[in-house]
Amino acid sequence: MKNKEVLVIDLFAGPGGLGEGFSSVKDKAGNAVFKIGISVEKEESAHKTLTTRAFYRKIKDLSGGLDSYNEYLSGGITRQQLFDRYPKQAEEAETETLYGPKALGDDNEIIHKRIADLVKAHGDSPKVVIGGPPCQAYSLAGRSRNAGIKDYKAEDDHRNFLYREYLKVLSIAQPDVFVMENVRGILSAKIAGKIMFPSILNDLRNPEQATGIASPRYKIYSLVVEASDKDNPVYKNSSDYLIRAENYGIPQARHRVILLGVRSDIEKAPKTLTRSDRQVSVKQAIDDLPKLRSGFSKRKDEPQAWEKAVSQNSACIKALLKKQFDGVESLDLQPFKNLSRSASYFITSLNLVPKCLADWYRKNEPCQMLNHETRGHMDSDLLRYAYSAAFTQLSGGISPKSRDFPDELAPKHENWKSGSHADRFRTQAANKCATTVTSHISKDGHYFIHYDPKQCRSLTVREAARLQTFPDNYLFEGNRTQQYVQVGNAVPPFLARQIGKVVMRLLEA
Ligand SMILES: C[S@@+](CC[C@H](N)C(=O)[O-])C[C@H]1O[C@@H](n2cnc3c(N)ncnc32)[C@H](O)[C@@H]1O
Repeated sequence: MKNKEVLVIDLFAGPGGLGEGFSSVKDKAGNAVFKIGISVEKEESAHKTLTTRAFYRKIKDLSGGLDSYNEYLSGGITRQQLFDRYPKQAEEAETETLYGPKALGDDNEIIHKRIADLVKAHGDSPKVVIGGPPCQAYSLAGRSRNAGIKDYKAEDDHRNFLYREYLKVLSIAQPDVFVMENVRGILSAKIAGKIMFPSILNDLRNPEQATGIASPRYKIYSLVVEASDKDNPVYKNSSDYLIRAENYGIPQARHRVILLGVRSDIEKAPKTLTRSDRQVSVKQAIDDLPKLRSGFSKRKDEPQAWEKAVSQNSACIKALLKKQFDGVESLDLQPFKNLSRSASYFITSLNLVPKCLADWYRKNEPCQMLNHETRGHMDSDLLRYAYSAAFTQLSGGISPKSRDFPDELAPKHENWKSGSHADRFRTQAANKCATTVTSHISKDGHYFIHYDPKQCRSLTVREAARLQTFPDNYLFEGNRTQQYVQVGNAVPPFLARQIGKVVMRLLEA
């Protein structure tokens, strides 16, 4: 590795999961290897989150930097007052995130110029592009088919749009390496009955052919399967590009396609990620967070009324579960007393999770608990949540399907028993890794029910952020719905850190 940091160009940055992981990678001397030069994001709240985090990274090692950041987190000062204390770093953070939300496509003049300037200023030092265009139909890859369509113009096809933008940036930045993340659906996306993924790979191998802009070629590696020919990586199955996050220390079954593009003149081949010995469970990841109660969405929210409702539900749930399980009597479903709906401080230490992950969550010892606040639910959902969580506990970790719910608890959906709503309610079992945290969590909490029947609630933003491996002092800006969307969209930073290390070793050559 040369002395200079590797320039990172972060596209479709969301709240910055990939960027956080890359930024955390240090070399043997303890110096940061990657430096984010630009993060492009079009959504306002995610952009604000990115800017706050970019600023945090710039001040955390300065005298008084962490204290000032914590003062902001605790509400002691406003964001503007925080930025005013470190004007140089605030300016750098704003520059990094382009002074506001920007959309690839709409704001290309600004974005491309900034990327070109950064690349020029960076000289011969390595450059990396991270991020992936949100999954669309990828019809650029289907341009040969489209060419046969009368009056077809690729530029007018919205489905092309972001994928083309991504290829354009590759051509402008000509990075040594790119890391492109996408949903699993990219492997099977079809146009006119034809699977597009091979064409997508071809475009990424040769962006010039796709965009007409002069650019180098790339070899595309899997991060989990060794290529039989390192100089010409091709894989038997397209699923070889799929990363199952739960195998790499993430407490969540998140399956995403991650492609590692390496400029073809780089001779060294990347290593694959190292699998963890064992999976991390939901309980390990979140059990230390303060217990909270849910609230009522349809009536006045008072703790005593909540306790009364949960207590009454408990007898009903036990009667219903007795028909299916032994040992129901010993189940403790009595509500906790005096729980609040949000918590600002950590009470217990994180001692269930493997040490490397505990250190990651708690780096810089945050004293402030962020984004840990419950939602309100309907009375009927409180009962279903408690039933679902108790069922999951008694069954050893199997969340009930709709057929497992007694008629008394059935919601008024015509299709409830038909099978299409089989997973309408899902408890995240304590003893397993979580199912994929998606932005759907912003809509309702039915898929993300806390395993503790006594808390009767869906997961908070912070709990979802833990399952996504964001450090505890990572602040999600915006309202609660926006925070959930950001968390659900992100690449787990702890996984991104491992990918960053693979890239660091590759560039060390
Ligand atoms: C899946 S998320 C990215 C997650 C991110 N890579 C991470 O590591 O956390 C995709 C993001 O792309 C953003 N986006 C969509 N279209 C965009 C565009 N044209 N320009 C910039 N950002 C865009 C969305 O707002 C969303 O936040």
